[in-house]
Amino acid sequence: MRLHVVPDRAAAGAVAAREIAREVRTHPDLVLGVATGSTPVTTWAALAACGLDLTRVRAFALDEYLDIPDGHPESYSAVVEREIVRPLGLDPARVRTPGDDGKDAGAPERYERDIAAAGGVHLQILGIGRNGHIAFNEPGSSLASPCRVTRLAAQTRRDNARFFASLDDVPTHCITQGIGTILRARRLVLLAFGAQKADAVAAALEGPVTSTVPGSALQLHPDVTVILDGEAAAGLAHSETVLAGGPIPFPAPRVASPSP
Ligand code: F6R
Repeated sequence: MRLHVVPDRAAAGAVAAREIAREVRTHPDLVLGVATGSTPVTTWAALAACGLDLTRVRAFALDEYLDIPDGHPESYSAVVEREIVRPLGLDPARVRTPGDDGKDAGAPERYERDIAAAGGVHLQILGIGRNGHIAFNEPGSSLASPCRVTRLAAQTRRDNARFFASLDDVPTHCITQGIGTILRARRLVLLAFGAQKADAVAAALEGPVTSTVPGSALQLHPDVTVILDGEAAAGLAHSETVLAGGPIPFPAPRVASPSP
């Protein structure tokens, strides 16, 4: 796990965008996993500013509300179109959200199959909920869970009420990639900002691996980059050793001092 603690969201977005841009330069048809919500906003802005040709990139969103009217501006298909596809110049035909081919009982399995058919996600951008969720895998989700229909936790609905007119308008159900689906991505990049995420970040990165903290599943993945601001990193106890960014340099051999 590589950890970057940066001054603010803009700096975090620049680091994440650099990671994505580096991958796109070597794989122009990269399969990118995209998160919605507030966290990745600066990543998309920094990536758009790179001016890279992203027309061959394929993208799969993590999740989508189920009980939301088609075309609702806060549906994740609308958010992805507005905040990711248009500013980045992605080809809409290469961008998917769960249930975009029909919100029927077969949708989760089809989405899982379509990700696999695309060769799997190469680089997955993730945020984390205050309750430790990744995508909409709420506490209690199996660490091997596939793409599926599930309920939103009460806390997630309260947190996301800021995007809706009232709490009653926040959907109750969603289609989400599972934790198992996310763990199959080749690279994971997790971003988190603000003091309200500090407990979830510490529990996910340094606590026991448990379905009670879905984000703790990241400890099972061999290629994770974590980008935090100082507030989100404040609960980490081992950030200088276990999690410190980049490979630890091999120490130069000690030269034995001649015996007196
Ligand atoms: C969004 C998603 C969620 C968010 C998380 C953090 O697609 O999957 O897991 O990443 O709820 O939300 P923000 O970024 O709004 O704090």
